[in-house]
Amino acid sequence: MATTKNRPIEINVESASPEKVKTGVLVVGAFPDGTLLRSSQKIDEASKGKLSAVIKRGDLEEKPGSTLLLHDLPGVEAERVLVVSLGKRDKFDEKAFRDAVSGAAKALASGPARDAAVTLSADVPGRSLAWRAQTASRILADGAYRFDAPGKTAKKERGAHKITLLIGEKASEELKKAVHQGHAVAEGIALAKDLGNLPGNVCNPGYLAETARALGKEFNLEVEILERADMKKLGMGAALSVGQASAQPCKFIVMQYKGGGKSKPIVLVGKGVTFDTGGISLKPGANMDEMKFDMCGAASVFGAMKTVARLKLPINVVALVPAVENMPGGNATRPGDVVTSMSGQTIEILNTDAEGRLALADALTYAERFDPAYVIDIATLTGACVIALGNLTSGLFANDDELAEQLLESGNDTGDRAWLLPMFDEYQDQLKSNFADMSNLGGRPAGSITAACFLKRFADKYKWAHLDIAGTNAISGDAKGATGRPVPLLTEFLIGHAQGRAWGTTERKTPAAA
Ligand code: BES
Ligand code: MN
Ligand code: ZN
Repeated sequence: MATTKNRPIEINVESASPEKVKTGVLVVGAFPDGTLLRSSQKIDEASKGKLSAVIKRGDLEEKPGSTLLLHDLPGVEAERVLVVSLGKRDKFDEKAFRDAVSGAAKALASGPARDAAVTLSADVPGRSLAWRAQTASRILADGAYRFDAPGKTAKKERGAHKITLLIGEKASEELKKAVHQGHAVAEGIALAKDLGNLPGNVCNPGYLAETARALGKEFNLEVEILERADMKKLGMGAALSVGQASAQPCKFIVMQYKGGGKSKPIVLVGKGVTFDTGGISLKPGANMDEMKFDMCGAASVFGAMKTVARLKLPINVVALVPAVENMPGGNATRPGDVVTSMSGQTIEILNTDAEGRLALADALTYAERFDPAYVIDIATLTGACVIALGNLTSGLFANDDELAEQLLESGNDTGDRAWLLPMFDEYQDQLKSNFADMSNLGGRPAGSITAACFLKRFADKYKWAHLDIAGTNAISGDAKGATGRPVPLLTEFLIGHAQGRAWGTTERKTPAAA
């Protein structure tokens, strides 16, 4: 089952003098202008100026994350020293830090050393050492991710599988916790990537259901799988209409993590369209393979559940996944068909390719029974969101300002950012139908917004937010694959709630400043 098959990686934090650490590769950050940090200074002294000489020669590039591998530095115990560029000194910020760690992670994942020590001495303005440790731990563990494609011959094992973060002071419990958290988030990311990357003929609704069962067994979650007949009994006419022409029966997955006693749960709803052909409103052929990623909302919910359970967070979290395959066929929904949702509202399906909102509508109604503190749905919902925000930023919509702020902050803290878009009531007019309470099609203008406005009609009984991840869930081209987003954002939000975090205390930069 798709709990990650990747080799486990070990990440620790220790206080040690970098030149004395016996390891396969020692990672030190450096500014190409030659200014040395505490750790690199020690390496430089031990090697009698060798490090600074190399940097002065101009071998280290300005781009944060570019690397330089030095062998057998005299006076240094490590077999190799990996110098990572931190970029311009006066420009060093969160992004440069993340880029630097990503660069190191990439080199470590493909390099010859089996163990590594990573110094963390560059101060990031406005961020604590714990933030640095959590972020580095997550990015380094995520860097070791490899998808074991079922149809591809496995490559020889390479890369570091034991990483020690080096700090200049004794590691506090808080710091150890931060490292553990970062690692657990990476595990969630890995599960989300695995599920996303699997082909549609493997990762179908049944496979997602089995994965939920396996996750439930491993982490003691309550798991319930509603079958087609159960869904029918509940009146989930919208969700069922999406999967009705598929040979793969629809499943409605319910996972409950109970760590928070009697507190109200946070409900996560993930779009689980395991393949989106568009149905009778068939999609064009180019890149249609990428519609295997149309269950990445569900995958991120699975990933977040895994992280929450691994960390034993003192909160209650419910995961809901309508898992369906959108296929054409003799039994398929026709444009113009009218269906009745679980809420009782009727929908005229004008385009069978606007299926995500149909699946989510019934899941949002089902969420009511948990008396939720918040409901957050995550969906690869609209191509329009990719046009609006590209592949960098997820679209965020919410009927509650506080919830929206918390999610924006969680995105900002992790670099897994979202941006708030409006849902003014005036947009609702675009969903008018002559034959039902609404249509599922809002037309081309503001396509992401009208999709969100559609969902809003099913989410009026609680505080709700919607993340449109159509642009951020996967990468196309040579590096084609799932990103595991927005697991970092979601888990940061959940960890914050578990820790009773005071939201709104870290400054959130506007895009111009960020
Ligand atoms: N799964 C797609 C959205 C999508 C598009 C995700 C591109 C990732 C990349 C969704 O089901 C869809 O087809 N949306 C339509 C809606 C339209 C028919 C109103 C779209 O965006 O074109
Ligand atoms: Mn579609
Ligand atoms: Zn879709």
